[in-house]
Amino acid sequence: MHQIKRVAVLTSGGDAPGMNAAIRAIVLAAHHHSVECIGFYHGYNGLLMNDGVKLEPNHVENIIQQGGTILKSARCQEMLTENGVKQVVNTLRKNVIDALIVIGGDGSFNGLLAISKYWDGQVIGVPGTIDNDLDGTDFTIGFSTAINTAINAIDKIRDTANAFDRVFIVELMGRNSGHIAFNVGVACAAEEIISFENFSHENEQEKLIQLANDIKLLQADKNRSYLIVLAENLWPGGAVKLSKQLNSNTGIDSAACILGHIQRGGAPAAKDRILATKIGVATISALIEGENKIMIGERNNDICFVDLHLAIQHNKMVNESLVAAHENILALTVR
Ligand code: F6P
Repeated sequence: MHQIKRVAVLTSGGDAPGMNAAIRAIVLAAHHHSVECIGFYHGYNGLLMNDGVKLEPNHVENIIQQGGTILKSARCQEMLTENGVKQVVNTLRKNVIDALIVIGGDGSFNGLLAISKYWDGQVIGVPGTIDNDLDGTDFTIGFSTAINTAINAIDKIRDTANAFDRVFIVELMGRNSGHIAFNVGVACAAEEIISFENFSHENEQEKLIQLANDIKLLQADKNRSYLIVLAENLWPGGAVKLSKQLNSNTGIDSAACILGHIQRGGAPAAKDRILATKIGVATISALIEGENKIMIGERNNDICFVDLHLAIQHNKMVNESLVAAHENILALTVR
């Protein structure tokens, strides 16, 4: 058993539904073990400015169902500088913090690794990002809600697309990973998914020709809509450019829709609340056991510890069977 008296917690980077559920679990588990919990506001900025508050169980009542984060979030450029990191370490020392818990994604975990070079307290990452792009955990907190939100939105887009037998291109978040695009595309029976797994931009012209052929074939056969789900940061110029190119190169008219930040909001889905609660409680236990420089994840429903360096390698691919299922269904329905 490792003697810890006071932990700091913050949320950093893009907020994700379920971050509040994680804060709640951390605060309650800490309280249970008589560990004090200090929440810092606006990501690492709270540590730069020494802007924190002691979190008691009453602060986390009624937040499990809320999107966003009660601690606020931010992306913090100062954490990329040595001075910034040292200032953060000063605040941790000044407040006699034994361990720092950061709920966020890969950029936030890089911050933890930088801090651990100058500070001998324990650091633990909690995977909170809609992108699901952290290695070693099956899912990240927020992913499930984000895909449900996107699916609900696209179902509505499909209604109007059907009414006009129209082509829609919907661009989804995910930064540089296709987990959101692929899962949502399959769940919405998209006629086309353009994602990191199946497209690279050298094949742009080829793709335009294939899209035009597929759309013409499908729409000639029976009047129907055609939905293209596009991962962000992939097609040069995104959905709007693709729509223009389809029109100028092939004469096909389409509507572009960028779903954007709606994917980050809303009440967390059951899966995210449960995942956040399991991971939050396990985080405090891991700290008491003396664990350091790890992310707490979940694999096959069991809590797992992942070396922080390994968690941010970006090696977690979209499940191959999902990609194969999509290809097989396309072969049956579109091509
Ligand atoms: O990492 C979460 C995320 O929502 C990504 O999917 C997206 O690329 C990015 O953050 C957007 O960041 P910002 O809100 O800073 O524009």
